[in-house]
Amino acid sequence: MAGRVFEDSHWMRRAVEVGARGTRLVRPNPKVGCVLVQDGVEVGAGYHMQVGGPHAEVLALAAAGPRARGATAYVTLEPCNHFGRTPPCSQALLAAGVARVVLGARDPHPQAQGGAAALLQAGMAVTEGVETAACEQLAEVFLTNLLSQRAFVQLKLATSLDGKIAAADGTSRWITGPAARQLVHRWRAETDAVLIGAGTALMDDPKLDLRLLAPRTLTLHGPSRPTRVVLDRRGQLHAGLHLCDTAQQPTLVYTSARGRDRLAPLEQQGVQLAEIPEGDSDAQLRHVLGDLQRRGLHHVFCEGGAKLATALLRADLVDRLDLVQAPKLLGLGTAALGDLGVTSIDAALSWHVDELHRVGEDLHIAARRARPRT
Ligand SMILES: NC(=O)c1ccc[n+]([C@@H]2O[C@H](COP(=O)([O-])OP(=O)(O)OC[C@H]3O[C@@H](n4cnc5c(N)ncnc54)[C@H](OP(=O)(O)O)[C@@H]3O)[C@@H](O)[C@H]2O)c1
Repeated sequence: MAGRVFEDSHWMRRAVEVGARGTRLVRPNPKVGCVLVQDGVEVGAGYHMQVGGPHAEVLALAAAGPRARGATAYVTLEPCNHFGRTPPCSQALLAAGVARVVLGARDPHPQAQGGAAALLQAGMAVTEGVETAACEQLAEVFLTNLLSQRAFVQLKLATSLDGKIAAADGTSRWITGPAARQLVHRWRAETDAVLIGAGTALMDDPKLDLRLLAPRTLTLHGPSRPTRVVLDRRGQLHAGLHLCDTAQQPTLVYTSARGRDRLAPLEQQGVQLAEIPEGDSDAQLRHVLGDLQRRGLHHVFCEGGAKLATALLRADLVDRLDLVQAPKLLGLGTAALGDLGVTSIDAALSWHVDELHRVGEDLHIAARRARPRT
């Protein structure tokens, strides 16, 4: 029994690894991986590559061919059970003569769910709940979109060792080294929108493009470029900013009704305007993230600055935190974060560290919040 538990974990981790080859092209679908194993040997593997394309199970079955009969299928997400863009994967597994199905995470999608029940009903041996956390992490953008009805938020903070994002004179380029900056461009390519506050747009005049990536890397992520999104309630952006050049990459600015009048001329340059309703900061941010999701921008990469990052964390709207720390000390300067509403150590916001490694001279920590989705 212990041997089987160990083996199931091993192969499910392999399915997660395979599923992670998926890119933003799968959205709005989840990233999913599947491996088929016969007598301890992998006979087929597949991952969902593109929305509308075959699901991971179908590709793994095709790769295995006749060796699928009698095999165990390890699937990171419950197989779909409906005729959507493709036929139900639960039926494909049954038709191929798979002997057992091992599932990582349940699919809460109202139309697609029910695959596990259908397999059980047809007499299939089903094992559930194997490496669930890793499988949910693989599908985290999809699960957040579905359960929280908003875009998934990945926040990047590039800081000195003493937690500063800019020096005392306001300069912040470059705190981190070239390898870390290239990593940031890879994150941008994987997301649908890059979000900043008006302060960063005005102070740094960033391009937020993908210029550091090789053409081969870019083709993996498809032809479209992430939309640049700016929160500018007062309407302070001006036509001379790089973000207002929309020839290569779209820009969407959320502003108040008053800000809209000021920003209207930017529409001639192709900048799109959307309204932020009156209200408190938390409600405004929830509105923006819900609206981005409805626009098909499912994964948002926030690059600061301090005020916006603080507001998102305070509202508990950050799903993944990527902290890149340079081995530099700035002393005085802009702190990465302001008031998070934490007044005692017991109230500290707690995170799980998922990854920790060096990027050139810098350190990268990827962390996720320990909480149910809101
Ligand atoms: N090292 C890094 O990773 C990094 C990254 C980015 C920026 N920076 C540095 O950070 C500094 C800029 O930071 P910042 O804090 O001044 O600017 P910011 O966070 O980029 O922008 C702040 C502005 O965003 C707007 N905003 C809209 N909705 C908001 C909300 N719910 N909560 C908070 N702000 C909201 C506000 O203007 P309205 O009231 O007009 O809407 C606010 O003044 C610069 O020095 C820049 O170089 C560093």
